[in-house]
Amino acid sequence: MQHWSPLLFDSPFCTYFKSGVSEVYSLSASSHCTPKSADLPRNLNCVSSNDGGAVNLGESPKGTGVFITFEGCEGCGKTEQSKQLYAWLNEEFPEINVVRTREPGGSHGAEQIRSLLLTGEVSSWLPQSELLLFYAARYDHWVHTILPVLEKGGIVVCDRFFDSSNAYQGWGHGLPEKYFVWLDQLLNDENSGHPCVPDITYVLCIDPAVGLKRSQARLQAGRSLGNETEDRFERIDVDFHKRVQAGYEHILKNNPDRCVRVDASRSIEEIHRDIVEDVKKKVSRQGYKPSHKKS
Ligand code: TYD
Repeated sequence: MQHWSPLLFDSPFCTYFKSGVSEVYSLSASSHCTPKSADLPRNLNCVSSNDGGAVNLGESPKGTGVFITFEGCEGCGKTEQSKQLYAWLNEEFPEINVVRTREPGGSHGAEQIRSLLLTGEVSSWLPQSELLLFYAARYDHWVHTILPVLEKGGIVVCDRFFDSSNAYQGWGHGLPEKYFVWLDQLLNDENSGHPCVPDITYVLCIDPAVGLKRSQARLQAGRSLGNETEDRFERIDVDFHKRVQAGYEHILKNNPDRCVRVDASRSIEEIHRDIVEDVKKKVSRQGYKPSHKKS
């Protein structure tokens, strides 16, 4: 079994290690996370391309960074795409702090909440309790990990954010919209240099039944290797996942400036190429320049 274990979590330093393997990640006061390995484990907490000090604030004209999220139903391939985009951003903007993180998780407290949410019986939580746990994790993640990077002009790439709550707890479980309005307001009450809203969201769309099968097969393979399975949502029936996909369609329709539909039935390379083209356009609009390329 592999666990993220807190080594030291008193502020200002917070370090995680994965028992049995060598990758070590750190969260500093400004929550910049330092990778000690070039590749990321599937079970990542949070990794960053540089140590915070080297961020060139002048690269971001607005003084705020860029917040990019990946969304989609189970097995849509967003984790692979966020990895590839993270690698590309590091190449393209070596002087910018680029952080890759995930939800639920990405900070010490949120990682603890993650295991409550993703393991155990499907019926462990009432939809309302589940929603509050996702938002408790999100608030911690936002304040401790994401916001400090954005405020210093960094780029954050995050697997899932509030659209997941809307799609899963709102559309999947049928919770009313007013709950989300109130909870999103709570996140935005944190007086900050960046609104608690992604700048760009890629929604990877596939047939939810196909994605669910793909994801279940991956989990089964992990289980046979003795890995802990975070499969609480994969055990919910396919109709739930169809409602989640309908939720994403609704989100896409209502947020055309922020959300980009990505046909996830294509090859990993094709999808990555399209995402990079889109990011190039939008990030250069923010004023970032792909200068000082590594040779
Ligand atoms: P994860 O193992 O990260 O899977 P995935 O690769 O599909 O992202 O599990 C996250 C699960 O949590 C996923 O099934 C979606 C669900 N989820 C919600 O239901 N609401 C949320 O707000 C978030 C962030 C995730």
